[in-house]
Amino acid sequence: MILVTGGAGYIGSHVNKLLNDSGYETIVLDNLSKGHKSAVKWGELVNADLSDTETVREIFQNNDIEAVMHFAAFSSVAESVEEPEKYFKNNYENTLNLLKVMKEFRVRKFIFSSTASLYGIPKSIPISEENELKPINPYGESKLMVENLLKDESDFGGLKYVSLRYFNAAGADLDCEIGENHNPETHLIPLVLDAAIGKRGSISIFGDDYSTPDGTCIRDYIHVNDLADAHLKALQYLEEPFNDSNIFNLGNGTGFSVKEVIDTCKKVTGVDFEVIIDERRPGDPDILIADSKKAEEILKWKPQIPELEDIVESAWNWHKKINS
Ligand code: UFG
Repeated sequence: MILVTGGAGYIGSHVNKLLNDSGYETIVLDNLSKGHKSAVKWGELVNADLSDTETVREIFQNNDIEAVMHFAAFSSVAESVEEPEKYFKNNYENTLNLLKVMKEFRVRKFIFSSTASLYGIPKSIPISEENELKPINPYGESKLMVENLLKDESDFGGLKYVSLRYFNAAGADLDCEIGENHNPETHLIPLVLDAAIGKRGSISIFGDDYSTPDGTCIRDYIHVNDLADAHLKALQYLEEPFNDSNIFNLGNGTGFSVKEVIDTCKKVTGVDFEVIIDERRPGDPDILIADSKKAEEILKWKPQIPELEDIVESAWNWHKKINS
């Protein structure tokens, strides 16, 4: 049995589906503060918060948990700047609680949702796992604190973990059973698709004076199913007794500017809409592109949906479904 915390959320629900499709049994722990009950179509759902140690203990007591995949966290950079304490509590302190209970029940395999935000403003592109870790917002800082904790627990406490540093998760389940559905939405692709479907009148570009060819920020968009596949491979990696704890970047290694993403969305949807150049959003690095060679070599992971058009198309199919 695999415990999936945050399995009602965007990335967690896609991983939960893949685990079940691959023959694993799962139990999802989610407080449904951001996630959706309807996204947990596989495995049992326990509606609880990770700070509720007694309920977490009961899960370990009543189930034979082999490993934990930990997605439950807040992930809005903007919100983290406004309410840092909320991020340190939910992302760091609750992880600490979870790890304590895992230790109590001698569950030693852990897969962690980490982020490219750890790298802050990178000094070199593409970004490998060796790049300097220097987050520029409380969200990234809270995730780095967890990574530091995991390293110590692994070096001195017998934990075996894999930390997966996602670049920009995008797209949706190809069967359209689950997809991205944040409230409020802050991510570029779903917001652009809102404009395409007529839910908003226009899309704003946050700054066109960055040091990039067209002046807009460049990101590495990675399909959520490819992220899910990396989790499955990370679990299989941890199931091998001689493998050590490890850290992997997950991206396609190709960058697209905000303008390019908008143009791709217009092409895929066949809809034209207004684009407004707005002020920069605080805390946005110019360029984030992953070097994921390590995951390719060690996990034998290779993105299966690397084309931006295909990623956007899957997001669009889901978007049409939830807005119909
Ligand atoms: N953007 C716009 N207009 C919008 C929304 C976004 O121009 O209406 C721009 C942003 O300024 C940024 C780019 O589109 O340059 C992508 O923004 P997102 O909000 O979609 O994603 P981020 O790159 O800010 O962050 C995402 C996740 C983080 C994660 C990070 C890692 O939300 O959790 O990727 O790269 F840490």
